Amino acid sequence: MSLITWSDKLAVGVEIIDQQHQKLVQLINGLHAHMVAGDAPEIMCKVLDRVIEYTGFHFETEEQLMQEYDYPYSTTHKRQHIDLVNTAVSLQEKLKTGNTHITMETMHFLQDWLQHHILETDKKFAAYLKSKGVH
Ligand SMILES: [Fe+2]
Ligand SMILES: [Fe+2]
Repeated sequence: MSLITWSDKLAVGVEIIDQQHQKLVQLINGLHAHMVAGDAPEIMCKVLDRVIEYTGFHFETEEQLMQEYDYPYSTTHKRQHIDLVNTAVSLQEKLKTGNTHITMETMHFLQDWLQHHILETDKKFAAYLKSKGVH
């Protein structure tokens, strides 16, 4: 069973952002599936690397749009991105040194973060983009 189910409730209405969010949901569900399967730490590290890499790419896309359309709340929005990247990178470092493993708690943290960020922060940004004619 998937950890996160994509639904229209998560759609923000800007195509490129929605596509990337769906891909992120898939990647986090994949990480969860590897965790449930009890895969080795080396595999978990590689899967988490892909999640971090794609997350970075997605944040860049949003931040470029913020700059392009002069988004007035970019500082607080970007702050949330930076905080998540920092948390994920420190988790990755601990995994690499064998000091932790990915648990259900980790997965719930990622799930909550993503859903909350999409529903609050990204929706607000998307509404701004739509007011500027972006779809
Ligand atoms: Fe965002
Ligand atoms: Fe986003």
